[in-house]
Amino acid sequence: MSAERDIKFTAADFRRLRQMLYQRVGIALNDSKSHMAYSRLVKRVRQLGMRQFSDYLDLLDSNVDEEEWQHFVNALTTNLTAFFREPHHFDLLRLHALERAGQDRVYRVWSAAVSTGEEAYSIAITLLSLPQLNRKRLELVASDIDTRVLSHAADGIYDADRAKALDEAQLKRFFLRGVGRNAGKIRVRRDVRDQLSFYQFNLIAAQWPDMGRFDVIFCRNVLIYFDKPTQAAILQHFATCLQPDGLLFLGHSENIQHLCDAFQSCGRTAYRLVNPAVRG
Ligand SMILES: C[S@@+](CC[C@H](N)C(=O)[O-])C[C@H]1O[C@@H](n2cnc3c(N)ncnc32)[C@H](O)[C@@H]1O
Repeated sequence: MSAERDIKFTAADFRRLRQMLYQRVGIALNDSKSHMAYSRLVKRVRQLGMRQFSDYLDLLDSNVDEEEWQHFVNALTTNLTAFFREPHHFDLLRLHALERAGQDRVYRVWSAAVSTGEEAYSIAITLLSLPQLNRKRLELVASDIDTRVLSHAADGIYDADRAKALDEAQLKRFFLRGVGRNAGKIRVRRDVRDQLSFYQFNLIAAQWPDMGRFDVIFCRNVLIYFDKPTQAAILQHFATCLQPDGLLFLGHSENIQHLCDAFQSCGRTAYRLVNPAVRG
């Protein structure tokens, strides 16, 4: 415990907090994250007039306040993201969509850990830029466990300097520029925002609702927070909700080799579903 901490946070508190987070959302914090956990939650503990973390953890454990659990989860998730992060995935997405553009059905894409929305809007921009694709035959779903980032994503408002990966034509076609007190901000145009549906969804839920089959799933830079059995269970679920030949994109440091035989590598952290599974 550091000397200048005014709220008591012991090693046992950290172990307990870590276990609670793991059980709720699957995030496995290692020992080095103790300071991070303290700094992200201490304000809330103070706001509640508590002098020690153990009281806060008792409050959560008493399960009287589901909202407090959400606050806890929102504080401890890491939400780093960017427009067109790992751009090679968007090239593959474009090709995959074009191959299916003539088919008489809806093309469905799911961003399964969307954070503040940049990933989902990059998908939308990629697909809406294809003249061959009818936007009425496009369904874009975005989800995250963190309600705070989901609300940011639905608003679609960003600092303009976060849009460096976008060219002028994309900015003009898909965004509005803020003026007056909104100068320096950009907002995704309403028709593009309306193309997306946002949901809260916990990837470690044992039972997944029937969401139909997607053509592409983006699940990038989140598996890395989970242990191997949790990763394997999520991949198995993905195999039940992708179209045969559907694509799964993972983050740059995520590797599913030896975890699930339903997928075959088809590019850098890109996988094609080769053994579709049925829902159990
Ligand atoms: C680092 S961000 C990745 C954002 C985006 N996919 C990207 O690659 O730029 C990880 C996201 O995973 C979300 N997350 C963490 N645990 C989750 C869970 N159990 N279910 C759903 N989302 C989760 C976090 O809230 C966070 O927004």
